[in-house]
Amino acid sequence: MRVIFYTGKGGAGKSVISSATGLKLSDMGYETLVISSDPAHTISDALETEVYHTPTKILDKLWAIQVDPVREAREAYGVIQEYIVSLFKSKGVDEVLAYEIASLPNMTEFVSLLKVVEFVESNTYDVLVLDTVPSGEALKNIYLPTLLGSTAAKVIKLVAPIANLAKVVEPIVGLPTPGREVINQDIKLLEILRKLKDIIVDRKVTSLRLIANPEAFSIQNLKRTYLLANLYDINVDLAIINKVIPEGVSDPYFKEWKHAQTRYLTEAGDAFYPLPLKKLRLFQSEVKGLKLLSEVGNEVFADEDPAQVYFEGKAIKVRESEQGLEVVVPLPSVSRYKEVCEVERVGEDLSVVISTDIGEVRNFIPLPAIAHLMKLDKAKLLNCELRIYFIDERWKEGKK
Ligand SMILES: Nc1ncnc2c1ncn2[C@@H]1O[C@H](COP(=O)(O)OP(=O)(O)O)[C@@H](O)[C@H]1O
Ligand SMILES: [Mg+2]
Repeated sequence: MRVIFYTGKGGAGKSVISSATGLKLSDMGYETLVISSDPAHTISDALETEVYHTPTKILDKLWAIQVDPVREAREAYGVIQEYIVSLFKSKGVDEVLAYEIASLPNMTEFVSLLKVVEFVESNTYDVLVLDTVPSGEALKNIYLPTLLGSTAAKVIKLVAPIANLAKVVEPIVGLPTPGREVINQDIKLLEILRKLKDIIVDRKVTSLRLIANPEAFSIQNLKRTYLLANLYDINVDLAIINKVIPEGVSDPYFKEWKHAQTRYLTEAGDAFYPLPLKKLRLFQSEVKGLKLLSEVGNEVFADEDPAQVYFEGKAIKVRESEQGLEVVVPLPSVSRYKEVCEVERVGEDLSVVISTDIGEVRNFIPLPAIAHLMKLDKAKLLNCELRIYFIDERWKEGKK
């Protein structure tokens, strides 16, 4: 089983490249499902076929689904949403406003992640290709289950980061007790999230692929995603630069464009080192229909198997050291930023914040039980790794 996520900003070519990857995979004999959560329905455009909210057959071995976030959210979150609304109402917040706040704006990206669990468990497909989704921001939700405490806090913590509720919810004290239904739904959801996390951090199963255009903003945006993915322990295996003006174009009108693109290609090579980098030319028209998609697939992958793991980066390691414990977070791109790193212990987790020229990224790394007794000593960024050291005070005493 393989799960391939494509990420990149709007218009970069995610829908086109996801569909083309799906087509190529099905051609090679893989039972393939392309999952899209892009509300713009670009996958229907690319495939030139209406794609529904249940798996829609496109060709032999090729299926596509357009996730309907509103429907899915209602199914997955209906009860929890009701609970949140009752929370606000109990504090005198107007009901309409309460619903507004509890409507989970990032749901689109999140529910398609939940779909992954469903299809991995159904075992019907060899490869799942995901169009859109992880902006790394959506991926962070998979880490929440490790950070949850009592049920009420659990529900709020679970939903708050999704709905940006944190600031609103924090000052509220004396919460209504969640009913049995909320707790059941909550437990079910936690289970799914736990499974999702296991799938996503499995380097043999899941790959995140970056799609950028040869432009400053597009590359910047993906640098941040790449860093986030590393912090989240998700394997990024490939970067694709799309809409590159072909060599053969000599029209002076495009001279400046070509010049800039060459520069950005070099920059991309730097930013995404050591990932393999592929280029896709700017076609003469929009890419629509199976014929053009098949051309895209051939240009990107030639006769390679798109299901292969193109690159396997190092995972986060927690190991015992002489004095205590060492956590090593590989950050292959980090030496290229003017970074400041902050490490803090939050309960049983480690909060890591890296400030770069492309904004702040943060993750919580759950610590093994053995670390709970240890003291956070120091952290340093060295050779593209963040090393965090814990000291076991008992060890020191033993030495004395
Ligand atoms: N290599 C390419 N050459 C020409 N047009 C492209 C290419 N890649 C994508 N497009 C077009 O650019 C637009 C955006 O692509 P799309 O895959 O929908 O982006 P995203 O899903 O990332 O928002 C679409 O009209 C698509 O046909
Ligand atoms: Mg799209």
